[in-house]
Amino acid sequence: MTENNEKNNSQGLRVLSLFDGISCGRVALDKANIPVSEYNAFEIEENAIKISRYNYPDIKRYGDVFSTDFKDFNGVDLLMGGSPCQFWSKAKCNKTAKLKREIDTEGEGWKLFQKFVEAKNNTNPKYFLYENNYGMADEIQDAISEELGVQPIMIDSQLLSAQRRKRLYWTNIPNITLPDDKGLLVKDVICDDPDLVKYFDDRIRNTMIKCENYIKYDLGGKGHYSQQDRLYFLDKKAPTVPRCRTETKFNVWLGGEKYKKTCPLEIERLQTLPDNYTEFGMDESGNVKAMPKTRRFEAIGNGWTVDVIAHIFSFMKF
Ligand SMILES: C[S@@+](CC[C@H](N)C(=O)[O-])C[C@H]1O[C@@H](n2cnc3c(N)ncnc32)[C@H](O)[C@@H]1O
Repeated sequence: MTENNEKNNSQGLRVLSLFDGISCGRVALDKANIPVSEYNAFEIEENAIKISRYNYPDIKRYGDVFSTDFKDFNGVDLLMGGSPCQFWSKAKCNKTAKLKREIDTEGEGWKLFQKFVEAKNNTNPKYFLYENNYGMADEIQDAISEELGVQPIMIDSQLLSAQRRKRLYWTNIPNITLPDDKGLLVKDVICDDPDLVKYFDDRIRNTMIKCENYIKYDLGGKGHYSQQDRLYFLDKKAPTVPRCRTETKFNVWLGGEKYKKTCPLEIERLQTLPDNYTEFGMDESGNVKAMPKTRRFEAIGNGWTVDVIAHIFSFMKF
């Protein structure tokens, strides 16, 4: 253990977080009861930063990962990050993803990941955690394992939340086992809001088909393909929270001809964030404002399932 680590472990961890988003990693450390003495975050998206700042005004913020070589953070206890996955993901859900999916170690996705590698090499962290999408090309997955010197662990968030979400975690935290299944279901996250309750119209009534995990229908008359034209069941799992337009992609069947649109609070619960974590944002001058619903959906969908990260961190030893 370095002198730095010894000094800081008595008061809490010195953390370096790349691609920090809304700081789900920090929430996870809190949930795992791991004290933090210094949390350094690199993030560029203004709305995510505002949400994080409102919840954690003490975080030191540095902006763009391309602005540094990270040598100033030598000897941190924990380095973590999940670089943007849309370049490698099969999901087509935003403008960036409309670019061709990258399937090898060229391109934007790899450049961003290389900043994590640089941070690891230049800070010599006691522990590191790198996260990314399960659906990436094998060539990229193998290349990441080669660079980081460990094989990934796949954890599906559905073990600890009501959401199916398969993610890969590369870490040197030893002896991690899969968490026990908590058996959480859609009904465990749903909130009671009459304004979000809707009723079938003829387009749903005339085209609906009951499948194993949802009812599908065809609003556009183009076939039953759209993820928006689905109603999920209260006693089953929710789909993976996407990073955009979540509102239209998680409708829940309430029985009979009733269904429900979702809201940010439910999506926070699917990611096991504290209730209303994303409700407010704070700007650099300390002004607090309510965050628009669309921004909340985007920030939450981009984030980590907090309880999965807390589970991984619970295996760190100091
Ligand atoms: C998959 S998300 C990570 C979310 C995060 N784990 C959380 O807890 O919310 C990737 C993040 O990387 C950020 N990002 C993209 N390019 C960046 C850059 N050059 N420097 C810093 N952050 C960047 C994005 O804005 C996004 O919030």
